[in-house]
Amino acid sequence: MSGVLTGKNIVLGVTGGIAAYKSADLVSRLKKLDANVYVVMTAHAKAFVSPLTFQSLSQNYVVEDMFEAPRTWDVEHIALAKLADLYVIAPASANVLAKMAAGIADDFLTTTILATQAPILVAPAMNTQMYLSPLTQRNMKTLQDLGVGFVAPGSGRLACGDEGIGKMAEPQQIVDEIVKLLAIESESDLPRLLEGKRVLITAGPTREALDPVRYLTNHSTGKMGYAIAEAAAAMGAETKLVSGPVELSAPEGVQRVKVESARDMFEAVMCDLNYDIIIMTAAVADYRPKTTQTQKIKKVEGDLTLELTRNPDILFEVGKVKTHQVLIGFAAETEHVIEHAAAKLRKKNLDMIVANDVTVAGAGFGSDTNVVTFITSDGVQTAFDQMEKSEVAKAILKKAADLLSEADPVGTS
Ligand code: PMT
Repeated sequence: MSGVLTGKNIVLGVTGGIAAYKSADLVSRLKKLDANVYVVMTAHAKAFVSPLTFQSLSQNYVVEDMFEAPRTWDVEHIALAKLADLYVIAPASANVLAKMAAGIADDFLTTTILATQAPILVAPAMNTQMYLSPLTQRNMKTLQDLGVGFVAPGSGRLACGDEGIGKMAEPQQIVDEIVKLLAIESESDLPRLLEGKRVLITAGPTREALDPVRYLTNHSTGKMGYAIAEAAAAMGAETKLVSGPVELSAPEGVQRVKVESARDMFEAVMCDLNYDIIIMTAAVADYRPKTTQTQKIKKVEGDLTLELTRNPDILFEVGKVKTHQVLIGFAAETEHVIEHAAAKLRKKNLDMIVANDVTVAGAGFGSDTNVVTFITSDGVQTAFDQMEKSEVAKAILKKAADLLSEADPVGTS
């Protein structure tokens, strides 16, 4: 994760409340991810934590007053508002929520909020009754309707001695939300290379039932295929994801079709091949039990022999009938990676195959990264160093867009 916020400017507004001490931890976690953090404190916040604490942790001057003289960087509220990639208010008191909802700008923090065009994320912290007050609830609803993001408070024993909702979310929860928000922002920076194109992706494992309680499967988590689906949608493509059973949620803007077995996946793919780009990352079981028992298989004396039969090879079948589609497969190999992958490319009539050696650390099943080599049908090989699967996804889609325009330079298909 280190470096995930490199170059991102986060303005952190700290308001008066005991949870202000947790914001010191928040700053330190953001710095570990390489963010630039600029802290703005209200007068009341200074009663809880010293500006020096935030200054030392953020390695930036802390703005405390609307009218103080600028120091090493331009502290004008407009400059800071423009600089922000994200404006976070943590803890956000009932008072600041009310001022924000009413558009009041009577100190540096609220003035910058009014001036910024950056997304705003707030982490409320206050006494339970204040939080549940219809006035605060109305203010939060107003802000939510205006697009302000919230990290909901938790429940527990509050500083005032009451038990209930109102504890500021834990710093790590706020960091996770920040990373998610800024990642979405940078995804949308992706070139809209696939606007007007249709992309079909398979992902995850398949499950081949032995009986009502057992199945054969493999280690695929779907991470690779889901990363491609997410990037394809961010690049403007109409994206369908045919997914085996995984723990991931469908990426935004992606039509997901859930399947279990290889035969289900085969049907879900073959029913509509009218796509510009088809990318198959799924680890499809080549074999299934010859018969699926309707009742649970009972233990017997001695060994049990399973008879397996071949599943359809979905990629091979698509390769046989493809016309205009750019067809890309994956090869999960443990030896002779390039030779085996190149043989699959030819056999399955692909435009490109993405070879990954699943014995290498940080590659293949389950990891957030992969180590891949692209092999195109003209035999050209491009090897990449270890990359996040999200980066591999972008590289594949950029290559697919190139292959598409080479095949159809005027974009008629
Ligand atoms: O899901 P993750 O945990 O992120 O892991 C990613 C991955 C390791 C699953 C992925 O990077 C990968 O390598 N996917 C292909 C896995 C595989 O089973 O490859 P294969 O060599 O068996 O198959 C070659 C190609 O044919 C693949 O595109 C596969 O989707 C396709 N195939 C295979 C068999 C079959 N019956 N039907 C198919 O469509």
